[in-house]
Amino acid sequence: MRLDKYLCESTELSRANAKKCLHRGEVTCDGIVVKNSAFKVPDDCEVRLLGELVKARGLRYIMLNKPVNTLCSNVDEVYPSVLSLLDIPKAYSLHIAGRLDADTTGLVLITDDGQWSHRLTSPVKVCGKRYRVQLADPLPEEKTPELVEQFASGIELKGEKALTKPALLEVLAPSEVLLTITEGKYHQVKRMFAAIGNKVVGLHREQVGAISLDPLLKSGEWRYLTQGEVESV
Ligand code: URA
Repeated sequence: MRLDKYLCESTELSRANAKKCLHRGEVTCDGIVVKNSAFKVPDDCEVRLLGELVKARGLRYIMLNKPVNTLCSNVDEVYPSVLSLLDIPKAYSLHIAGRLDADTTGLVLITDDGQWSHRLTSPVKVCGKRYRVQLADPLPEEKTPELVEQFASGIELKGEKALTKPALLEVLAPSEVLLTITEGKYHQVKRMFAAIGNKVVGLHREQVGAISLDPLLKSGEWRYLTQGEVESV
């Protein structure tokens, strides 16, 4: 990694200020002053800024329990970004792996590892996402097997030719279901229920792949993923 990028990712410095520190001769690599921003930092190199050790931060992997009226976006717009809830340096340099609507709550995964998030969101990789759905109209009990079959065979969404991929519908109560889908089409869950004449009035993501929302996280809280969770992707 370039030395200016290393400094910028591992400290509070912006790229421009990292370069200024370099030009002022404030940075050493293994005891030698380096002024070249493009210097490639070797593995195990001891980088110091004004004599203080600068440890490589490494990649970050976070789960957040998204509250309503927050955006899965890197900018604050009508509502604040979910990144505003992360009290860590350079939170806005992270990205969100798989977005939720402003009114959807639950599990959001946030990282700066592009390859990892690609594995989670790429349409060619199958990654189940489980949602707890509250419905406006109760589902008639006698229709449950038929609906389960319909969601498993694919639903025709308005404006789309191809059916949705097989989805698992589990009815918990007449107006509460779990739905597991492997795609991430725009407003997919809401559109799937609209296609069968119902309406989603509450949507909460509980699981992505093997990663479940930690029940200890209250709305708006977050934690770093465990090694096992990171490696499950
Ligand atoms: N499907 C939706 O309709 N909305 C979401 O936020 C996620 C899945």
